Amino acid sequence: MTAAPQLAADGRLRHLLTLDGLPSALIENLLDDAARLREQWHTQRALPQHLAGRTVVNLFFEASTRTRTSFDLAARRLGALVVNFDIASSSTSKGETTEDTLATLEAMDADAFVVRHKENGTPAQLAAHARQAAILNAGDGNRAHPTQGLLDLLTIRDRKGRVDGLNVVICGDIRHSRVARSDVHGLHALGAGSVALCGPASMLPAREEFPGCRISDDFDAALTDADVVIMLRIQRERISDLPDLDVDSYHARYGLSMQRLARARRDALVMHPGPINRGVEIASAVADGAQSAILDQVANGVFVRMAALTRLLAR
Ligand code: CP
Repeated sequence: MTAAPQLAADGRLRHLLTLDGLPSALIENLLDDAARLREQWHTQRALPQHLAGRTVVNLFFEASTRTRTSFDLAARRLGALVVNFDIASSSTSKGETTEDTLATLEAMDADAFVVRHKENGTPAQLAAHARQAAILNAGDGNRAHPTQGLLDLLTIRDRKGRVDGLNVVICGDIRHSRVARSDVHGLHALGAGSVALCGPASMLPAREEFPGCRISDDFDAALTDADVVIMLRIQRERISDLPDLDVDSYHARYGLSMQRLARARRDALVMHPGPINRGVEIASAVADGAQSAILDQVANGVFVRMAALTRLLAR
């Protein structure tokens, strides 16, 4: 997927589908907007109603806690009407296509659709069909999760003061991870010093998919000099032939324990997009420890989604 369909001819954001190819200035602007909205919320508990009169539809074909709830809160706190479309009880079960569902809801004057789908490319396809509405990708297959990438960048920038020059390690099921892809696109756009991808060989991606990254199955070695460690869960829902996982051996080699974290820089930041599997990819002592930014990521998700919705919908 190229970035072209998400930018209008004048360079404005028309949809938010991927961080791949998104100009770094636009990424920085979105992070700055999110930080400003966060400051307003924390000091006044009130926000400008940028989205008054707008309707946002959450169209989630896959399960979600963080992304769905934070888009919902973001839109409502900025004054939008929000429809949490219930796929299970909708006419999707009678065979209506996703494109026809989009056209139907657009005819009711929906202004934006927040789309999560297991198939790569579904949000981009809907963007190609949309007449007026903006499409925001809330995660498609293993391809992209742009707002997760943005909230991860904001969290790193908050805690480290910059992204530029940092050494970042991402460990886990990289092959099936849309978060890894969006994080890497964002980290490269903002000038991260190095990005290392780690995991068992069966969960590593093809090298050509991640130009500019180091790829290795040796997590211990990769942790040396890490400023940021991003842990990922195993995406069981995207692996059809996953043999029974030996959780203890996985944790022994790829789990982030306090002992293993000591290999990274003393002030290394620990992140995880969630949901976390305690005792598998991350020990509870690390997830709940002083270096963990996991709940900061969640909190930042609301403000990053406010920034994206405002840029796409504010009149
Ligand atoms: N990080 C993330 O996308 O979490 P959810 O699946 O709960 O939305």
